[in-house]
Amino acid sequence: MTWLITGGAGYIGAHVVAETLKSGRDLVVLDDLSSGVAARLPSSIEVERVTLTDAGAVESVFAKHYIKGVIHLAAKKKVGESVERPDYYWQENVGGFQNLVAAMKEHGVMNLVFSSSAAVYGAPTIEPGQTISEFENCSPINPYGLTKLEGEIISQALTVSGGFKVAALRYFNVAGAGQPELGDQFAFNLVPIVFEAIDSEMPPKVFGNDYSTPDGSCIRDYVHVQDLAEAHVAAIDLVESMQPGFEAINIGTGVGASVFEVLSMIQNVTEIELDPEIVERRAGDPAALVANVSKAKEILGWQSRFQLRDTVQSAWNAWQVSHK
Ligand code: WQD
Repeated sequence: MTWLITGGAGYIGAHVVAETLKSGRDLVVLDDLSSGVAARLPSSIEVERVTLTDAGAVESVFAKHYIKGVIHLAAKKKVGESVERPDYYWQENVGGFQNLVAAMKEHGVMNLVFSSSAAVYGAPTIEPGQTISEFENCSPINPYGLTKLEGEIISQALTVSGGFKVAALRYFNVAGAGQPELGDQFAFNLVPIVFEAIDSEMPPKVFGNDYSTPDGSCIRDYVHVQDLAEAHVAAIDLVESMQPGFEAINIGTGVGASVFEVLSMIQNVTEIELDPEIVERRAGDPAALVANVSKAKEILGWQSRFQLRDTVQSAWNAWQVSHK
């Protein structure tokens, strides 16, 4: 019996593959390698180079492998790009997911761990210091977040009609590297963006310092990718044992860090002085977004192990390996 990991050749995917292998499960990866790198994976792992928008190719993977469950990570995830190309994001993230669940239904596969995102919450009005729980209203403010919420909605519908058992993991801000070779090679998020600024000897930019937070910069919940990967194995255990149903689960540390605090940690870890440039706010940024992680502890038996320093240090170590 095999678990299928879509997007398994990606930055997060490679960490999830490593942890799932450690749990003793057989795996096969489905990835179109548009951003994934097969070399990140152990040579023993078979990679089916398939795009989820090709329904026939997706079904063929299920016909070829005796699949027990799916960890679905493959998606386009650039928020800014989703604003410019909403139709493309809907086609890739929702259309692709519809093809995946159609193949799952056809082959009687009911176990699903779905990569969702804190982006489903949009810009909630929570006070700094407060955390957001899974029961909060979900009002995405960009097409990327909308596609993730749609995936949750489709999953919930399948638990009723199709007997699906689903854990939707709402990732907060993922950073770091479980090992230096598995770092995030793309600078689409704060930590690698600052590393890129350091390499370019340019000042990092702070998108606004006039938020209603203690130091005026936005607060986020930065979770180590290794912690995130371990949460996926706990989620596999959950869906294998649960009755048909749907559980949305926040995956974060429960502790917020402001942009200035992250910059300070990067300065401390790299021993490079940073002189950030304060620029205008970025549209759609909530002042604070920090996970309430009590549900993850309660039903997954999981909680994060790493602190911000570990996350930043591991990210820096990996950045230097891939950008030397
Ligand atoms: C973090 C903070 C910026 C760059 C996004 C997605 C979310 C998830 C994580 C996939 C914000 C500030 C950033 C910079 C800055 N992805 N910032 N200067 O927007 O919190 O979340 O990535 O699931 O779904 O929405 O992440 O890394 O872009 O920004 O000041 O050069 O850093 O304003 O407060 P974000 P981010």
